[in-house]
Amino acid sequence: TFIVKTDKSIAKVEPNMWGVFFEDINFGADGGIYAELIKNRSFEFAKPLMGWSVHRNRQKEGEVLVVNRKEVNEANPRYLQVQRQTDDFELINEGFKGIGVKKGLRYDFSMMYRQAIPGVKMVLLLKAANNKVIAQTELTPLQTTGNNWQKQTASLTATETDPKAKFSIIFQGKGNIDLDMISLFPQDTWKNRPQGLRADMVQMLADMKPGFIRFPGGCIVEGMDLANRYQWKNTIGPIESRKMLMNRWNVEFAHRPAPDYYQTFGLGFFEYFQLAEDIGSDALPILNCGMACQYNTGEVAALDELDPYVQDALDLIEFANGDINTKWGKKRAELGHPKPFNLKMMGIGNENWGPQYLERLAIFTKAIKAKYPEIKLINSSGTGPDGDRFELLNTALRTANADFIDEHYYKPADWFLKNAGRYDSYPRNESKVFVGEYAVHADSKIIGSNRNNWESALAAAALMTGLERNADVVQMASYAPLFAHVDAWQWAPDMIWVDNLKVYGTPDYYVQKLFSTNKGTDVVAITNDAKNIIGQDGLYASAVTDKATNELIIKIANTANQTQTIDLALDGKKKIKSKGFIDELENSNLNQLNSFDAPQAVGPKRIELSLKGKKLNLVLKPYSFNVIRIPFN
Ligand code: AHR
Repeated sequence: TFIVKTDKSIAKVEPNMWGVFFEDINFGADGGIYAELIKNRSFEFAKPLMGWSVHRNRQKEGEVLVVNRKEVNEANPRYLQVQRQTDDFELINEGFKGIGVKKGLRYDFSMMYRQAIPGVKMVLLLKAANNKVIAQTELTPLQTTGNNWQKQTASLTATETDPKAKFSIIFQGKGNIDLDMISLFPQDTWKNRPQGLRADMVQMLADMKPGFIRFPGGCIVEGMDLANRYQWKNTIGPIESRKMLMNRWNVEFAHRPAPDYYQTFGLGFFEYFQLAEDIGSDALPILNCGMACQYNTGEVAALDELDPYVQDALDLIEFANGDINTKWGKKRAELGHPKPFNLKMMGIGNENWGPQYLERLAIFTKAIKAKYPEIKLINSSGTGPDGDRFELLNTALRTANADFIDEHYYKPADWFLKNAGRYDSYPRNESKVFVGEYAVHADSKIIGSNRNNWESALAAAALMTGLERNADVVQMASYAPLFAHVDAWQWAPDMIWVDNLKVYGTPDYYVQKLFSTNKGTDVVAITNDAKNIIGQDGLYASAVTDKATNELIIKIANTANQTQTIDLALDGKKKIKSKGFIDELENSNLNQLNSFDAPQAVGPKRIELSLKGKKLNLVLKPYSFNVIRIPFN
C-alpha cells in the first residue's frame, strides 16, 4: 500500500519551480518564434545576398549593388542600391526554409528607403512553391528623401496556403533607390503585435504556464569567442540598429547541413521580458561572465578588463527594475514599458567551469550583491554532472554560498531512472539547485540520433518526481532545448517541433506541461513500506498538495512493461470529495513519437475517478505517467 501523508508539508514548492529554457538554436528565434519571414532583411549575412536572388531578362552591370557604409553605421552597415534602367527585374527572397503563408491572412511589408527623385515602382508578390502568385500589391515610394531614410509599409493578403512560398519584388519604372530592412510579417502575431512573435509557438509556452523563462541560452550566451558573445544592449531599441551576429549554432553539427543562421535580435531582451510577462513567467536572463565557450576557444576576458561585463549585468538589473528616472529604467520606459519587469534572478555564465570561472564569478557576485542584494544569482556547474570537475566546482560554489547552482544533464534513459533519488541526499540548507538543462539522450555522443520518443519522456518524468520530492533543494528546473524547426535543426531531442506553419509538442512537452500545471504548493510524503518510491517495480512517485485549489496531486511513472495495480491510502485528517481524475500519458511502444500528423500519439487522456473514503485502488497502465488529482472537502 502506498501511503500519502496528506497533512504534513515536508517542503514548499516554489511557484516558479517548472520553467522553460529558450535559446536561438534549431531556428528557435530567427526562422522560428520571431515571426519575420524575410531572411537576411538587412543584407548583413556573411554573403550579403544570402537568401536573395536577382532575376533579370538581360544581364546588366550595376542594377543591384550592396553598399557598405560601415564608417558611419557600424550596427547596420549594408544596404541595397537598385539602379533601374529599362528592363524589369525581380528580387526574390527564399525565406527561412521557405515562407509559410496562410490563405486569407494579411502580410505586412515594410522597408526603409531613400531616393533622389521618385521613379521606381515596386510590385510585391508572394509566390507559391510552384511559382503561382498567391498575393500581390503595388507600392510606389513617393518621397524625395535625399540622404534620409524613410519607412514605407504595404500589405498583401494571401489567396492560398503554402508552407514553402517565397517573396518577390518586381522593380519597374526608372531611377535609383536604396533599400534596407526589407521585412514581411504575418498579421496574426502573438497579441497582434507588429513585427512580433509567432502566436502558435508562444501559445504552446503559455499553455504550460511556465514558472520562469530562461533566456537567451545556452551556448549563444558565451559565443564561440568573446567578440561573438551575446550582448543584451545590442538587442534593444530600433531593430535597424540592433547589430546582428552569426549564430553560434551556424555550424555543421550532428550530421545536419549547416544552416544560414544569424541572430538578428528582432527578439531581443525587451521582447524576452515582455514575453515572460505575457505568459506569467519570471524572467531569468543568463549573462556572459567574461568567458567564451570552453568547448571551443576557451577565450577569457582579462580580470582587469572585466568591468564592461559586470556593468552589463548591473545595467540589466536597472533596465528591468529601475525607476524611470534612472538611465536604463528610462530606456525601458521609452521602449513602452514604464512599469518595472520585476527581475528577481540572473545567471552568471552558462556552462563555465574551472578556477577562471570562479575568479570571474566572484567579481560579478561582489558587485551585484553590493548594489542589488535581493537579486538571486545562478552559478554554473559547468557540465556533468559526473566527474571530479563537476564535484570540485560544486563544492567551491557551495563554499562561496552560491544562491543557485545550475546543473545540466543530457544522459541516457537509464541514467535518469538511476538518478531519480539523486537529490534525496543533497545538503538541505546550502545552495539551491537549478536543473537548468536536461533531456534524455539515448546516446549522448550522437546528438542528432536522439529522438523525443515516449521512452525519453517517461524517464524524464521518473526523474522529475525526484526533483519534486526535493523541492526544498531543487527549486527550479527546465528541459532543453525548447524549439526545433524540422528543416533547420542542429540538436535533438527538443521539446517542441515546428515547420513554417505548424507546431506540435513531443511526449516530453506533455510531461513538462503536466508537471508545471500540477505543481501544487507543498510536498507531502508518498511511501511504500516507509520508503520513497524510486524504482521499486519500475514505479516512481511524488505527491504535493495545493493550498490554493485544496487538492492532493500524486504523480506516478510506471516504467515497467506491465499493468500495476496499487492500493493507495491517504493518511491525514483531510476528507476527500467523491470525484477526482487522472491525467494519463501512456503508450505500449516506448519508441512512439508525436508528429504533425499525429500530434498527440502520446498525449494526455483524462479519466474520471470515483472516490469513496480514503483508500483508493489505482490501475497504472504499462509505460504510463499518471497525474492523479484528488480534491479535499
Ligand atoms: O541545449 C543545447 C546546449 O546544450 C546549450 O546551448 C548548452 O548550454 C548545452 O551544452
